[in-house]
Amino acid sequence: MGFIWGQRPSPAAELAKKYIVEDQIKRVLDFGCGYGRDSFYYARNGLSVSGIDPLPEALELGKDWADSEDLSVDFRAESLPGTSFEPDSFDLASSFNAWQFLSEEEAKAAVAELGRILKPLGLLIIVTFSLEEMNQRPAKRISERVVYFDAATKPIRLYNREELRELFSDWNVIQIKSLDVCEDHEGGPHIHKELAVVARRTG
Ligand SMILES: C[S@@+](CC[C@H](N)C(=O)[O-])C[C@H]1O[C@@H](n2cnc3c(N)ncnc32)[C@H](O)[C@@H]1O
Repeated sequence: MGFIWGQRPSPAAELAKKYIVEDQIKRVLDFGCGYGRDSFYYARNGLSVSGIDPLPEALELGKDWADSEDLSVDFRAESLPGTSFEPDSFDLASSFNAWQFLSEEEAKAAVAELGRILKPLGLLIIVTFSLEEMNQRPAKRISERVVYFDAATKPIRLYNREELRELFSDWNVIQIKSLDVCEDHEGGPHIHKELAVVARRTG
C-alpha cells in the first residue's frame, strides 16, 4: 500500500490542535492509525505517541516513514476493543475513520476500553461516518445503520448524533459536529459526510 489517505494530518488531529495546548497533552493514542499520518503530527509537536492498527502493511509503512524522518512512534499491531495498554495511560485518544468498522457490540466495548486507558479527564476525539454518508455513493444496506460500500470488505456502521450521545452518555461530551471531509483517493476527489465527537472521561 502507499500513502493512500495522504500524509497531512486528518480532521481528528486538526480538532485536537487547541486541546494539545489547553490540556497540556503529553501522551497520545492514535487508534486505527493506518500508517500514522496523525501519529506523525503529534510526534512532530513533541508528544509521546502510540499508534494502533490491525493492518501490518500500514504499520510497516509507518515505521519506514518514522525512520526517514527520525521520529519516534510506538506502532503496535492491535485493535479495539481490546488493547494491551496500562490503565490511565493517555491524555488524548484520537481516531479518524476507523470507528465505523466496529460493530455495535465492539463500539460499546471500545468506549469502555478507552475509558480504562485514558487518564481521568482525558480527552477523546473520534471522527466517523455519519448516516448521511449512505447517500454519497452506492451502498448495500444490511440494516438501518450498517452498509457495505463498493470496495469495502467489512460492514460499515453509520452514526447519528443521538446514537453517539447515547454511546458516550457516561462521558462529558464537549461537542458533536458535522464535517464534510474532502478526500482524493480511489477514483478521484469525493466528500465524506462525517460526525466528530469530542468528549472527556469523567472522574
Ligand atoms: C480509513 S483508514 C484510516 C487510517 C488513518 N486513521 C488515517 O486517517 O490515515 C481506517 C483504519 O482503521 C483500521 N481499523 C479497522 N478496524 C479497526 C479496529 N477494530 N481497531 C483499530 N483500527 C481499526 C484499519 O485497519 C485502517 O487502517
